[in-house]
Amino acid sequence: MEIRQVGVVGCGAMGAGIAQVVLQAGYSLMVREIDENLLAKGLDRIRKGLEKLCEKGKVSVEEKETMQGRLSGTVSLADLALSDLVIEAVFEDISVKRDLFKTLDGACKKETIFATNTSSLSVSEIAASTSRPEQFVGLHFFNPATVMPLVEVIKTIATPPGLLQTVLDFARKLGKTPVIAKDNAGFIVNLFLTPYLMDAMRGVGESVASVADVDAAMKLGCNHPMGPLMLSDFIGLDVLLSGSSRMFEEYKEKRYAPPPLLRKLVMMGYLGQKTGKGFYDWSDPKNPVPRDLGL
Ligand code: 3HC
Repeated sequence: MEIRQVGVVGCGAMGAGIAQVVLQAGYSLMVREIDENLLAKGLDRIRKGLEKLCEKGKVSVEEKETMQGRLSGTVSLADLALSDLVIEAVFEDISVKRDLFKTLDGACKKETIFATNTSSLSVSEIAASTSRPEQFVGLHFFNPATVMPLVEVIKTIATPPGLLQTVLDFARKLGKTPVIAKDNAGFIVNLFLTPYLMDAMRGVGESVASVADVDAAMKLGCNHPMGPLMLSDFIGLDVLLSGSSRMFEEYKEKRYAPPPLLRKLVMMGYLGQKTGKGFYDWSDPKNPVPRDLGL
C-alpha cells in the first residue's frame, strides 16, 4: 500500500518533530490537537522548525512554502478519515491512547494504518482497542525527532510481514534508520538505556558523586553527547518514571526499579527541561545549572 496522506495526533515536542520530518519527506500532513489553542501552538512549532531549516540554508524558501502548503490542522479526529497512516504522539496514558484509537478506528477508512509513538506502553494493548490489530505498529521516534536518526518499528504477534515492510519503507523515506523490535517493555533502546539512567540517579542519591561530576564523567569519559542526568532531564523525568515502573513490573529486575530520588522529583513537579527544573535548573536552556538537591 502506498502512503501519501499522513495524520499526526498530538503536537507537543515529539508530535511536532515527527510532523516536520513527515513534511520534509514530501507527504501531505494533517495534525490534530485537542483544542484550537494547542493546535495553534503546535502548528506554530512546526512552522518555526521549517523556518529554521530555511534560515540554515537546508531548504529553499520555495521548498519551505511547499511544505507549509502540505500542512493542515484540525481538532477533530474525524478529519483524519482519509489518512493512509496515522501516527499518535500524545502523552503516555494507556486509557487515553486506547480511547483515541477506538475513535480513530470508527472514523478512518478501513485501509488506514495506525502507529503509536509510545515509548513505554504495550503496543499490543493499544492495538487491541481497535478492530484492526493487524494494521497496527509501534513507531518509536527519539528526542529530538528531527535530529535523531533511529526509529524503532515495533511489531506485535498480529503484524503481517507486508505491513511491517510498508512501515519500514516509510521510516526510510523519512531519512531514518529503522530497527525492528518485538513488543516487550522497553523495546530495544529503553531496555538498555533505562538501567543506565536509573543507576546514575541511584549514584547521586547515594552520594557516589555530584550531578555535575556524574555527567562530566560519562560525557567526557565515554564521549556521550550528554551525561545521564542531563539526558534524563531532556527526556522528562515523568516519562522515565512511568517507563521504568512498567519495565520493573514486567521483568521484576532491580535494575529497572525507579529510585526514590526520581519519585521525589516527579512528585514535586520537577520533570526536567520541560518544567524548568529537574536535576538541573533550565532557566537558561543553553546553560543548565545543576541544582542543589540537598543530597
Ligand atoms: N529540538 C530540535 N532540534 C534540536 C534540538 C531540539 N531540542 N536540540 C538541538 N537540535 C538540533 C540543532 O538545531 C542542530 O541542528 P543542525 O545540525 O541542523 O544545526 C543539531 O540538533 C545539533 O544541535 P547543537 O549543535 O545545538 O547541540 P548538540 O551538538 O549538543 O546536540 C543534541 C544536541 C542533538 C540534543 C545532543 O545533545 C544529543 O544527541 N543528545 C542526546 C539525545 C538523545 O540521546 N536522545 C534520545 C533520548 S531517548 C528517547 O528519546 C527515547 C524515549 O523513549 C525516552
